[in-house]
Amino acid sequence: MISGIRIRGEEKMEFKAAMFAAAVVAVLLSSPSPALAQKKSPPAAPSPVSLPPSLAPAPAPAPHYVDLAELLSVAGPFHTFLNYLEKTNVIETFQSQANKTKEGVTIFVPKDSAFAAIKQSTFSNLTGDQLKTLLLYHAFPKFYSLAEFKNLSELNPVNTFAGAPYTLNLTDDMGTISVQSMWSRPKISSSVYATRPVAVYALNKVLLPMQIFSKDPPAAARRTRRAPRAASAPASSMAW
Ligand SMILES: *[C@@H]1O[C@H](CO)[C@@H](O)[C@H](O)[C@H]1NC(C)=O
Ligand SMILES: *[C@@H]1O[C@H](CO)[C@@H](O)[C@H](O)[C@H]1NC(C)=O
Ligand SMILES: *[C@@H]1O[C@H](CO)[C@@H](O)[C@H](O)[C@H]1NC(C)=O
Ligand SMILES: *[C@@H]1O[C@H](CO)[C@@H](O)[C@H](O)[C@H]1NC(C)=O
Repeated sequence: MISGIRIRGEEKMEFKAAMFAAAVVAVLLSSPSPALAQKKSPPAAPSPVSLPPSLAPAPAPAPHYVDLAELLSVAGPFHTFLNYLEKTNVIETFQSQANKTKEGVTIFVPKDSAFAAIKQSTFSNLTGDQLKTLLLYHAFPKFYSLAEFKNLSELNPVNTFAGAPYTLNLTDDMGTISVQSMWSRPKISSSVYATRPVAVYALNKVLLPMQIFSKDPPAAARRTRRAPRAASAPASSMAW
């Protein structure tokens, strides 16, 4: 690009060209990225005054990615809930909400023991849509820290991920937070994960909305079966 410089007898031109070339080189060396950006932008539009990198608005922080399936498989045990999430693909809905870091997600995860306490056919009798709704009922499409539940409890009833008629009431009884559905009032027994945009709280019971279990509270599992199952640990509780 500096081939024109050496043309005989044109000292001034040569000097100007050399200065220009030096300036171009200086620009290229000092700020490679704006130069590259300008190269790519359409030539017609005059580019606005570009700020030095330090004054340009900071790029949005990289989304904090949480793999929900992995989280639930190592915490818990939450195998029953996770199996249902995967079977119905609701895990994808939650994961995609978690990926949208703006709102985030809050998931209430009943422990395996919570599912084991209810008669098994209660859940296997549900239609695919009912099961899906039940799972979505266990989440808010927004991140809430435990501290925020106190305020949230003033907004009862609170909409869940399952949509308008599926609401929960939150209560904060001297720091013990409960989640009230029609047929159950589980406590948040622990915070499994609570870093924006993902909150996962363990429940000691399954949430049972009126819209799905309309007539009666679901029957408890029979005690005579529960005792040996509890003793023989994970294999049998995962079998169904
Ligand atoms: C969520 O984000 C991760 C990481 O970017 C990506 O691998 C995954 O496919 C996304 N999942 C959904 C359901 O959007
Ligand atoms: C599930 O369906 C079967 C067959 O219809 C019935 O016998 C059983 O009582 C149902 N279980 C529950 C918990 O509703
Ligand atoms: C709860 O609400 C009060 C009053 O609106 C506010 O000052 C406080 O920051 C809120 N707390 C949380 C944890 O959001
Ligand atoms: C939730 O709270 C609202 C308003 O206080 C009340 O009308 C409703 O009956 C409550 N629902 C449950 C399931 O407790």
